[in-house]
Amino acid sequence: MKVAVCSTQSYDRQFLLAANRDIGHELVFFDSHLCEETPQMVAGFTAVCAFVNDTLNTPVLKTLAAQGTRLIALRCAGFNNVDIQTANSLGLHVVRVPAYSPHSVAEHSVALMLALNRRLHHAYNRVRNGNFALQGLLGFELRSKIVGVVGTGRIGTAVTRILHGFGCHLIAHDPQPNPECISLGVEYVPLEKLYADSDIITLHCPLNQQTHRLIDAAAITRMKHGVMLINTSRGAVIDTLAVIEGLKSSKIGYLGLDVYEQEADLFFEDLSDQVMQDDVFARLLTFPNVLITGHQGFFTAEALSSVAQTTLQNISIFERGGICQNEVTVELLRAD
Ligand code: NAI
Repeated sequence: MKVAVCSTQSYDRQFLLAANRDIGHELVFFDSHLCEETPQMVAGFTAVCAFVNDTLNTPVLKTLAAQGTRLIALRCAGFNNVDIQTANSLGLHVVRVPAYSPHSVAEHSVALMLALNRRLHHAYNRVRNGNFALQGLLGFELRSKIVGVVGTGRIGTAVTRILHGFGCHLIAHDPQPNPECISLGVEYVPLEKLYADSDIITLHCPLNQQTHRLIDAAAITRMKHGVMLINTSRGAVIDTLAVIEGLKSSKIGYLGLDVYEQEADLFFEDLSDQVMQDDVFARLLTFPNVLITGHQGFFTAEALSSVAQTTLQNISIFERGGICQNEVTVELLRAD
């Protein structure tokens, strides 16, 4: 099938071409994002392969459908950037990669916790500058700390497995408690209790109407003084301005982000020679206790290989007229 691959980076090309060797789709790569200004670039492609920061809202989907597209193949797990209702009503099928390597994102979440706690981002620069002083680098043991996991699906569960090994006391909130987590000793609690008790809060829920700005000023007020907050889920699960106020008052003692609400204008590009235009992001960068990575949780060889294989398989199933288990429908949204 002729597939337009949007927002392509060199590593997308590498892993998709490798996975396509035995499949043989006709892949055409576009560097540009898919957004309201660009749907014409994929005119005539039956399948459009998109990533997290491509915009698939109503105007874009209408144009795609009118141009002959029938399949949106997301090469990611989250589908909050697609208006599924509109897509379904236009007869556009949407498939995704629900699980490629939850371990990749889970390990990155724990890497953020460890780096923030032991201030590795400062230690690295100090040692390179010949500064071997330890003042300001004091950490704490993860053992026995209370970690609150919001969302214990694939990634959240992988996080609980790792932190169980560290000897953490694990509590969680999820409308659908996971038996594996319960068997690890995870205690499911209401959000209020999770906020009040946790030394570390780590977010692994999808972005939807219920979780949009879940971490707002009211939630932060209920948290422990000096709490560590980790977000590798989606940027809009937190209210960034409220989090900045929490950092200024020291209520939030550490912040680790792999995602940012306005990341589409920043992430995945080298903007190092440009003036930062996003004042909120610029403010976040001024805090010594904030560590931000540019949506790289998924970025391992294992995950990229798995994403490429599943994406191409999803397209092959559609091409054969089969039923794809990875299809995202309005019904799935209702069940979410
Ligand atoms: P999943 O679907 O396996 O698990 C999500 C869990 O969140 C489910 O157990 C669900 O019941 C729960 N949940 C739903 N609403 C909730 C709420 N209001 N409060 C608490 N829990 C709630 O998804 P998975 O694979 O674990 O991914 C989680 C999120 O991580 C994705 O939706 C995506 O946004 C993000 N992600 C980030 C990546 C990165 O590179 N930083 C890569 C892949 C995913």
